[in-house]
Amino acid sequence: MTTQHPTAALHVLFLSAEVFPFAKTGGLADVAGSLPKAIRRLGHDIRIVMPRYGFIDPARWALEEIISELPVPFGEGTEPARIYVARHNEVPVYMVDNARFFHREQIYAYPDDAERFLYFSRAALELARHLNWAPHIVHCNDWHTALVPNWLKVVYRDDPFWQRTRTVYTIHNLAYQGVFDGHVLALAGLADQGFIVHPAFPHWQRVVHFMARGIIFADMITTVSPRYAREILTPEFGAGLDPLLRERADSLVGILNGIDVEVWNPATDTLIAQPYDVERLEKREVNKQVLQEQAGLPVDAGVPLLGFIGRLTEQKGVDLLVAVADAVVQHLNGQMIILGTGEAKWHEALQSTAQRYPRHVKVFLTFNNPLAHAIYAGVDMLLMPSRFEPCGLNQMIAMRYGAVPVVREVGGLADTVQDFDPRSGEGNGFTFGTYAVEAFLTAIVRAVENWKYATTWRRLQERGMRTDVSWTRSALQYVDVYRQALRTSGDMPAPLREKLSFVPLSEGT
Ligand code: GLC
Repeated sequence: MTTQHPTAALHVLFLSAEVFPFAKTGGLADVAGSLPKAIRRLGHDIRIVMPRYGFIDPARWALEEIISELPVPFGEGTEPARIYVARHNEVPVYMVDNARFFHREQIYAYPDDAERFLYFSRAALELARHLNWAPHIVHCNDWHTALVPNWLKVVYRDDPFWQRTRTVYTIHNLAYQGVFDGHVLALAGLADQGFIVHPAFPHWQRVVHFMARGIIFADMITTVSPRYAREILTPEFGAGLDPLLRERADSLVGILNGIDVEVWNPATDTLIAQPYDVERLEKREVNKQVLQEQAGLPVDAGVPLLGFIGRLTEQKGVDLLVAVADAVVQHLNGQMIILGTGEAKWHEALQSTAQRYPRHVKVFLTFNNPLAHAIYAGVDMLLMPSRFEPCGLNQMIAMRYGAVPVVREVGGLADTVQDFDPRSGEGNGFTFGTYAVEAFLTAIVRAVENWKYATTWRRLQERGMRTDVSWTRSALQYVDVYRQALRTSGDMPAPLREKLSFVPLSEGT
């Protein structure tokens, strides 16, 4: 039981494998770079921990070394970490440095990712103890940090330092689960507890499933939109984990992401050609021209300009994007600008589309932040035909920049974009339900038809720009979840505990 006064400031240790602006592959970095700031402004002592990847230059970010050798338990022994701190924003960002694990060119996709991220997570806990700063909450994000709740309930169970600490585990994307073979248990110091036996998941007796352990052992679980929180309880969106998630449904809360409205502000954005705001929306047109030029497309205010930004993966609906291009070009005389990197097959498909329509389609197969800003500021519509979308941040950025989102009604897209109704004038974008080219195209056609009416369109843009996409409300909801976690006993809920048993690594199959 906790003696924490309900209004007292909380100590929160926030763990993320990527944090903007230091390291980013996707939305997780944006959340880690902005949510803690909002929580800190509510008066809480929140501190971030992330790895110090080789590409994060200590001089550029003015990193300060605070510990030269922190011993981190790893396998039979310990592996030392150097700890830096960055004070880039109001929130301290501790960085765990270890040449063997993190001095690489990329964040992920190495054969030893399990080792790398379990080492990072363990170092974060050892760091808190070294600083003698006991967190009320350890807030873990995605599979990379999902062993933390497991450790606190097993390895650190009787350690007085961690007695009052509770864990919150946030799922940003159920598609990346972190499943590895048994040797990881020994490295994590979990060999004795071993594999998890659960009647619905027989294969867990041979693998270590990071995401599942986060869900099983965390005191509270969140995901990044209310709609996704409901979706993942079903087989369609549960990515195989829906039976487990249903068992923990009482502890699962969906909280909509916000965006950093200081980073994403068309009135002060130095990365766009012409700043503008909702009162001076006509100035925005310059950005469309500049973008068309930059993309090597004919400069023409009279054609609809459609954008896409994102990882080029199955999730993002790239197949629909490719399939719709012919109609957009031939029937709507539209231009398309696509920015992103991902799977080779989508690179090829998009490239051949661009070759077919050099005056209409431009594809940038790269990750380029300034260009992303220019696209949000320049396109008429932003397309997000996602197969699934835990939250999605781009539709919120688009709205803030007066680009009208055309999205599929899933996950956070459904929670943030309301379909435009020309009769009532309500709605802030265009949506479609069925994952099919015709449905997507219908939404695009409706958008383009409305775009032709300047006053209608301007009202749509204004409504989007006035939508509250900041963290204000959601940060309060996270604090509520922290307090809910603190009210738990710290024991696993009985119905789940009764289903589970454990097989030590030495006896595993
Ligand atoms: C993942 C999800 C995306 C979400 C982001 C931040 O990238 O795919 O929908 O917005 O995490 O939570």
